[in-house]
Amino acid sequence: MRILFASPEVAPFIKTGGLADVAGSLPPALAGLDGNDVRVILPLYSGINDDWRSQMTFVKYFYFQLSWRSCYCGLFELVRGGVTYYFVDNEAYFKRNGLYGHFDDGERFAYFSKAVIETPAQIGWSPDIIHCNDWQTALVPIYLIEGRTRLPELSATKVVYTIHNIEYQGRYGNSILTEVFGLDYNSYFNEGLLSYYNDVNLMKGAIMSSDFVTTVSPTYAEELQYAFYAHGLEGVVASQQHKIRGILNGIDMDVWDPSKDEKIPAKFTAEDFSGKWECKRKLQEQLGLDVNPNAVIIGSISRLVGHKGYDLITAAFDRIMANPEVQFVLLGTGEWSFEEFFRNAQSRYPGRVSANITYSAPLSSAIYAGADLFLMPSISEPCGLSQMIAMRYGTVPVVRLTGGLKDSVPAYNPDTDEGLGFTFGNINAEDMLSALDRALTVHQDTEAWARLMRREMTADFSWNKSAREYQSIYESLFI
Ligand code: GLC
Repeated sequence: MRILFASPEVAPFIKTGGLADVAGSLPPALAGLDGNDVRVILPLYSGINDDWRSQMTFVKYFYFQLSWRSCYCGLFELVRGGVTYYFVDNEAYFKRNGLYGHFDDGERFAYFSKAVIETPAQIGWSPDIIHCNDWQTALVPIYLIEGRTRLPELSATKVVYTIHNIEYQGRYGNSILTEVFGLDYNSYFNEGLLSYYNDVNLMKGAIMSSDFVTTVSPTYAEELQYAFYAHGLEGVVASQQHKIRGILNGIDMDVWDPSKDEKIPAKFTAEDFSGKWECKRKLQEQLGLDVNPNAVIIGSISRLVGHKGYDLITAAFDRIMANPEVQFVLLGTGEWSFEEFFRNAQSRYPGRVSANITYSAPLSSAIYAGADLFLMPSISEPCGLSQMIAMRYGTVPVVRLTGGLKDSVPAYNPDTDEGLGFTFGNINAEDMLSALDRALTVHQDTEAWARLMRREMTADFSWNKSAREYQSIYESLFI
């Protein structure tokens, strides 16, 4: 099949979150299945570095209309791992600091969505599927309604739309509709496609108008029926239930492999953990923690925002640290109150707490490899990739049972010696503490812990199964 995968961020070119990892690893997995021609399209941000730029070739440029604006669209191409990547060049929209958060994000990503629709005709290629992701590409199926009649390359194209996080919907006042998006008010607003309490809601439009909608874990697909998780779109989700499915994300098992990873101080395998203990010692040294092989390092790598469960961690923090063996390593940026809390905690627990209020890929690898436990008490977590990466490195997850955490971390069972992590269900600091306590108890049993680490490291988090599930959805749209 011919598949055009549209994403506002794609690893390793440019990344702010898990979406980039998925957009960087699902397309190559799909390209590995027989008979697929997979191409990925993303904006050419100024943040994409010269190493990548020097590998691109210029394809062509053209203009298209976005409302009254005639917009330049340059296309660059790069082929990597069996996938062709198209970079959409428009400096007015993408030569900016950072990816999102600009006053005209609605216009920037309407432009990108329109570029996705215009590109196939320009390159003489007719995709069977356009696979879109999150609010930034939500206008693709909407523009396709009109594009289908104008562009023969798209006359039979189907759209699959993936929700990576329903919290970010793309909501605007309805004056944006004609002036910026170039859409006719009566057809697109009055028909209920994009209208949501008198606003324009892009994610609603995509859910309504795509041929199929997926989200990134089966549990999150269930949760989206409830107001608590769906942030107002529960009714829309319920009305489209017949075409919504949850498919668990995978990770790139070659990129995240402690036996090959050049980014960590020592390599290790499920048969020989000595490299991991070396990584642990180096991590303690590097971060100014007491160098103590018996300490239990709890790692946490995330955006510091409420829905990642940091209220639970801060509420329970002093009780976590009451165990003198525990060390805590944090990496991430986010809400000011959480950043302050952890900076302060580092000075209150010298040698035992390391607060790294930044984002650093090398430090994240060092933490995945060097920590003993990985704490992820998310209030909601559509999929979550960090817990899978942690497990690859023999770092045992402690998670709340929500979304992809529930689907990827089966609870440890001491009687049968099964399971991969320590879990709790309620959004409650006491329950989180009790899961941590259970982990610390099992940690004292060196043999049981080694068996658990071995299970983590050999578990299958690859795309094999999930890529086939996407493929079967694509195929089902042509039956
Ligand atoms: C979003 C979600 C995260 C998911 C990722 C990739 O960042 O918050 O849970 O793993 O998308 O799908």
